[in-house]
Amino acid sequence: MSYFLGVDIGTSGTKTLLIDPTGKILAEATETYPLSHPRPMWSEQNPEHWWKATVKTIKSVVKKARVQPADVKGIGLSGQMHGSVFLDKNDQVIRPALLWNDQRTSAECGEIEKLAGGRAKLIKMVANPAMTGFTAPKILWLRNNEPKNFANTAKVLLPKDYVRLRLTGDYATDVSDASGTLLLNVTKRDWSKPLLKKLDLDPSLFPNCYESEDVTGTLTSAVAKQLGLTSECVVVGGAGDCAANGIGTGVVKKGILSTSMGTSGVMFVHSDEVQFDPAGRLHTFCHAVRDRWHMMGVTLTAGGALSWFVDTLCQELEKSSKGKVYEVLNREAAAVPPGCEGLIFLPYMAGERTPHADPDARGCFFGLTLKHTRGHMARAIMEGVTFAMRDSLEIIQDLNVPVRQVRVSGGGSKSDLWRQIQADVFGKPAVTINAEQGPAFGVALLAAVGSGEYKNVTQACTATIREVSKTPVIAKNRKRYDAIFPVFQQLYRSLAKDFKTISNLV
Ligand code: XUL
Repeated sequence: MSYFLGVDIGTSGTKTLLIDPTGKILAEATETYPLSHPRPMWSEQNPEHWWKATVKTIKSVVKKARVQPADVKGIGLSGQMHGSVFLDKNDQVIRPALLWNDQRTSAECGEIEKLAGGRAKLIKMVANPAMTGFTAPKILWLRNNEPKNFANTAKVLLPKDYVRLRLTGDYATDVSDASGTLLLNVTKRDWSKPLLKKLDLDPSLFPNCYESEDVTGTLTSAVAKQLGLTSECVVVGGAGDCAANGIGTGVVKKGILSTSMGTSGVMFVHSDEVQFDPAGRLHTFCHAVRDRWHMMGVTLTAGGALSWFVDTLCQELEKSSKGKVYEVLNREAAAVPPGCEGLIFLPYMAGERTPHADPDARGCFFGLTLKHTRGHMARAIMEGVTFAMRDSLEIIQDLNVPVRQVRVSGGGSKSDLWRQIQADVFGKPAVTINAEQGPAFGVALLAAVGSGEYKNVTQACTATIREVSKTPVIAKNRKRYDAIFPVFQQLYRSLAKDFKTISNLV
């Protein structure tokens, strides 16, 4: 028998699962770790936590599933995109990694566009404009602000690729994750030498770039021993968590859109060719399917807004509900009518990527009255996040990308209420599939392809993924949300200047 591990190094924790060739999940494990915000809008993590969580969850899953070590044939890695792990020449981490939702790099985004010869030229080279969350601006930030650390940097790796280095000793990445560095020629699926030159970045800083299903190495014998596996176990390229979720939800052909409601919210569509949003609002990245691409819009704070609400304002409820705080909030929110009796939430708590590309944007509750309760606030968060994701859907539809079906995934989509809100706000039935662990499942499938179990990724998805439920649109809710959505959109326009003023005052 052959088994495959999928490891997703996320922002709140690492999820690992083991599947058999039919896609059945035999065991799963999660290990959480902290996120640090040394200053408002900064976001960092310690790569050592990712490694420890990877080791712990792999060991736990292999033990729970009681499989023979030699039968675990391959590992797929997925992870939060864009994070920068700076390593010295001895592979030691130089400073905490800057993450995808860190907003300190506005000046460097301007610098990159200037060095590239303008925004249009940059988009031509790497398919995307400079955004604060991407990796390249983080590297320039290090050069500008911590020159000693920059001088000591011998390699820059993405989060999952740091874990790969510890697993196999190889410097490698995959095309989907590399797309989010802003340094990849997305059309040719390799590093953009012209841009590296213009930015004066040494190509040796970056790992080799592979297709997602390709084998990049095997476990070192020390690590194989530590994990209870064998050194024949291969590690494949894997994927950034968005493309990995695309595979894990079967978005490997045109017409299906997946929504992922995790810490961030992602609207993701497959593309057979490289297609751009001329305004640069959507990202165009390589897909984890060979010679295919995807477009996506990213809401930086999605499920993360509800977790913030729980962690900072519902501590008492957390205790009294004995760990069922989300169930209680869902019940309270479900009792509130759609539109929350005039309460609107803007989820821009870490700035916003799509469609505003505004690191200064802020979160807010708008329209609070004395009537509003905790349930209203919880529902307003779910609705506001979903409105923000509808902004991405509207751009996707404006570009004439067909959307016949919406597949919902991620932690937030496990809530019946949030699924209904998605169906009603998007105006499309919300379909769920059998595999709920999107990114980890997606990369376990990539490992199965890389190990020769399937001919290609599409075949692996067809064999293992099926629809299990459909939440239909409730017409009267849809009408209500259609009336509120323009107000939601107008609020950002009204407040954009004030967000900037406030951020300059902090
Ligand atoms: C994608 C993005 C986020 C992170 C979160 O562009 O920034 O979805 O990958 O894990």
